[in-house]
Amino acid sequence: MFTFDDKSGRSLTRRPEGTASICPSYVEHGMHKRAQPVKVWYWGPFFRHEAPQAGRFRQFSQVGAEVLGTDEPSADAELILLLDELLAGCSEVRLRLSSLGDAETRGAYRTELRDWLRAREGELSEPVRARLDLNPLRAFDSDDPGTQAVMAEAPKLLDRLTDEDAAHFAEVRALLDSAGLEYEVDPGLVRGLDYYTRTVFEFESGVLGAQAALGGGGRYDGLVELLGGPPTPGVGWAAGIERILLAGYSGESGGGPRVFVAVASPVRRREAFDVVRRLRGTVHVEAADLDHTNRSMKGQLKQADRLGAHYTVILGETTEFKDMRTGDQREMAVADVLKKFGDG
Ligand code: HAM
Repeated sequence: MFTFDDKSGRSLTRRPEGTASICPSYVEHGMHKRAQPVKVWYWGPFFRHEAPQAGRFRQFSQVGAEVLGTDEPSADAELILLLDELLAGCSEVRLRLSSLGDAETRGAYRTELRDWLRAREGELSEPVRARLDLNPLRAFDSDDPGTQAVMAEAPKLLDRLTDEDAAHFAEVRALLDSAGLEYEVDPGLVRGLDYYTRTVFEFESGVLGAQAALGGGGRYDGLVELLGGPPTPGVGWAAGIERILLAGYSGESGGGPRVFVAVASPVRRREAFDVVRRLRGTVHVEAADLDHTNRSMKGQLKQADRLGAHYTVILGETTEFKDMRTGDQREMAVADVLKKFGDG
């Protein structure tokens, strides 16, 4: 939690996520009396007092979607497919999926796992041992090789589900299968929040490093009731905008060439401004730029190089189109340059 005292000494805590506040507002605004289910979405800043590192910030942005008022597996599958669509532009995306069953199954399993791990305590890493009583499931998250070897043999919650919960999970999977979505069933998938029941899932990107989760969520069938409302099933997800950008714009995966517009005749400066503006609006250009500091022609070409331009358009007595990789240069009318990149 990001908690601090303000100037008048009040202790303030900034919101770490959106789900826990959506649940009471669903009741407060009478949404539980509307035709069910109710679908909501949100976007905004969230705060967690974690040690910052690549992809993990104390202030970040989430986009989220929640469906309240149905426990049908089709709602789970629909949301997972929606997030998959949202993450389509990201590199090396994979989806992990599991089910945590109901609170009772999970409680019994937690005790079983804790006792099982106690018997092999000596093989576990120190941080895992220290949290055995608090949350033994977290041991699945450990990157310590000794702990991982133990966890590979540990009893799995997925094998302990009630018939009803197992059937629910099978239906979610069947719907994803028929939609052609690839995923990995990971019985060790541990989500960082405690309110989950049944379906849990997480999308990761292989290009993100240690903080690989792009977005995730699951079902929280007891949360509305826990927060003072009527018994109401719910399911949803949230995704990190900064991580989506980090995973979507890495390496060479950009959307088209960069174009620099150089001015060789000062009389064409205003025209250059207009050409850049129009290039930025075309579908086939990732970025367009021009010189703002009256550089010489040589200086402008150097700047084009620095900015990683693939092409430079030179506006002088003639208009020239230069391929920065091959060095080829030929005359081309401005209208044809724009047409080449999809304008007009
Ligand atoms: P979460 O997994 O804690 O879930 O966060 C969702 C996403 O927010 C993560 O996958 C990650 O992309 C991003 N995120 C979280 N913490 C940080 C951080 N410190 N810096 C940058 N990005 C971060 C939830 O928040 C649940 N409310 C999701 C949910 C909705 N479950 C059911 N409904």
